[in-house]
Amino acid sequence: MQKLYVALVGLPARGKSTLGRRIRTVLEDEGIATRIFNNGEMRRSMLGERSTHPEFYDPRDAENRSLREQICLRNLERARDWLAEGGQVAILDATNVSRKRRALILRTLTDWPVLFVQCVNEDPLLQDLCERRKTQLPEYAAYTEEAALESFRRRISYYESIYSPVQDEPHWLCVDTTANRILDERPLDGSPYYAAIRQVCVTTWVHSLYLARHGQTEFNIEGRIGGDPNLTEKGTAQAEALARRLRDTPLEWIFTSTRRRSHATAAPVIATHQNAHVLALREFDELWAGDCEGMRYVDIGETMPEVTAGRHKDKYGYCYPNGESYATLKERVQRGLRRALFLAADSPLLIVGHQAINRVILSLFLRCRREDLPYMYIPQNEFSHISVSLRRQSFERLPYEPV
Ligand code: F6P
Repeated sequence: MQKLYVALVGLPARGKSTLGRRIRTVLEDEGIATRIFNNGEMRRSMLGERSTHPEFYDPRDAENRSLREQICLRNLERARDWLAEGGQVAILDATNVSRKRRALILRTLTDWPVLFVQCVNEDPLLQDLCERRKTQLPEYAAYTEEAALESFRRRISYYESIYSPVQDEPHWLCVDTTANRILDERPLDGSPYYAAIRQVCVTTWVHSLYLARHGQTEFNIEGRIGGDPNLTEKGTAQAEALARRLRDTPLEWIFTSTRRRSHATAAPVIATHQNAHVLALREFDELWAGDCEGMRYVDIGETMPEVTAGRHKDKYGYCYPNGESYATLKERVQRGLRRALFLAADSPLLIVGHQAINRVILSLFLRCRREDLPYMYIPQNEFSHISVSLRRQSFERLPYEPV
């Protein structure tokens, strides 16, 4: 039987633990005994508060350096014992950012190959939000939020000071964890499970995504586009119906656009999911109609017939004067979706978007032809539920109340 160590590499808040859990899920589904060995957990249980202090991570502090090394070694031994007892893949979840630390791993684990999986995430918004979330961990319970953030950022800066990307190690993969892309790799002949792990890294993983459109607005009634209108009475009733429909559905994240109609639609859902994280992303703002913002379709037809004709000819590629096209919109929606999925990790999320936004999101999962994308039907009393993993994709449309 072939066995493997998978050692994660990366600064804090780069998606290592999420990726580690996904690798475990996929391998276990294949009947491969997989276990995660987390240095952080071991550190907290062995040292408690002492190891929350940022100076504990100062690489110049010999005493603390040796303590951290002991924790690492203890975990490596546990992983080695577990493989010897019948386990097949041991995932080492720790930063492992220095070449020295990785050399220690390679010196200690000589019985089976070690695959280093380096996680990269250069998105400053995600880094900031993830760092803020870390401050909610029990180890920062005694800190104010600000003090916790400062302390955690100091810890990160110590890691940064010793960070050295994988390169000379015999076997590694470098993954962009927001784009699910392999940036570089060094395969090793005969390395077991490599293909499966690589596949996990490039899969857009969606545990449970609920996608709703905002409720009706005055602009919708008038056939007016864009702007920042409020919901009508009917729109508010639709928002309440959506909240009733999702009342018993676990949601850890709720994303809106920065527009009033999206916020107002999400509000009753937020009220019934008080522990959910809520975030407004500009990437989910409706298609920007430039000079036509706030105009009625009929008025555009009369006063700017070239716009209507241009859209009729190629609705996907047509760009509003000083505005956007579906083609240009796609890139920012994709960025927003990547951000949302990264933050939600493998927990259920809701996005309250707009007609064009939801068309783009759905098209990413439904593989529709680009010329059909701008004509997808996006009603205001129905939401979609999407779930994607390596072996399974599911999509359903769920009406939430006839109105
Ligand atoms: O009409 C509502 C709306 O959300 C507008 O704000 C937006 O411009 C439009 O839908 C997008 O749909 P279409 O591309 O079909 O005009």
